[in-house]
Amino acid sequence: MATTEEMDRMYRLQRFIYDASRKYYLLGRDRLLREMELKPGARVLEVGCGTARNLIVLARQRPDVVCYGLDASNEMLATAANKVRRRGLESRVLLRTCYAEELDHARTFGLEAPFDAAFFSYSLSMIPTWPQAIATALANLKPHATLYVVDFWDQGGWPRWFRALLKSWLDLFHVVHRPDLLDHLRELDAQGVGHLTLEPVAGRYAYLAKFRKRS
Ligand SMILES: C[S@@+](CC[C@H](N)C(=O)[O-])C[C@H]1O[C@@H](n2cnc3c(N)ncnc32)[C@H](O)[C@@H]1O
Repeated sequence: MATTEEMDRMYRLQRFIYDASRKYYLLGRDRLLREMELKPGARVLEVGCGTARNLIVLARQRPDVVCYGLDASNEMLATAANKVRRRGLESRVLLRTCYAEELDHARTFGLEAPFDAAFFSYSLSMIPTWPQAIATALANLKPHATLYVVDFWDQGGWPRWFRALLKSWLDLFHVVHRPDLLDHLRELDAQGVGHLTLEPVAGRYAYLAKFRKRS
């Protein structure tokens, strides 16, 4: 598990330039938010929400939903809480320090029912215990709810030099490309746990996975 101490060390200063710098290479996030199928009143969770950039966009796009975010880093959440407060969204964007692997909708957020939707945006590539994080997110979703994931793919449509450059850059931030993660979701689909749809973003720079729980 990447610990709170490790994440705080990495983000202590980065959090001040995080949103401006990631805008250019965390592709597909807005598409994920646009394509989420949400009923009025839906409760939506982001696992590894960082600065709450996504939750704020979603809360503004969908005034009828309530957003929940958890993150391992207190530093990131301090920036997130500031941003949420400045935008007057405290009642609709609720944040908690928590490891993805330890989420429990009742204990972590005091909710009686599981979430209507959940997403990981460029966080699973930083979570060494990602199968557990996925299992925990699914366990905290209602039957037939969807888990969305946007993250780095294999950049199959890009030149080799670009792939090498991106990999060296991402190594600096403990980001790991996980080809086995999509195999894992395919396997869960084959086992009848849910239904997976997978779409490329920008020439397989990233993928957008939608996993609809069966029950
Ligand atoms: C690359 S950032 C992405 C932030 C945000 N989702 C976005 O799209 O801008 C990854 C986030 O995952 C968090 N994280 C890493 N490991 C985690 C874990 N085990 N549980 C919860 N959050 C974790 C980090 O602290 C960081 O804020």
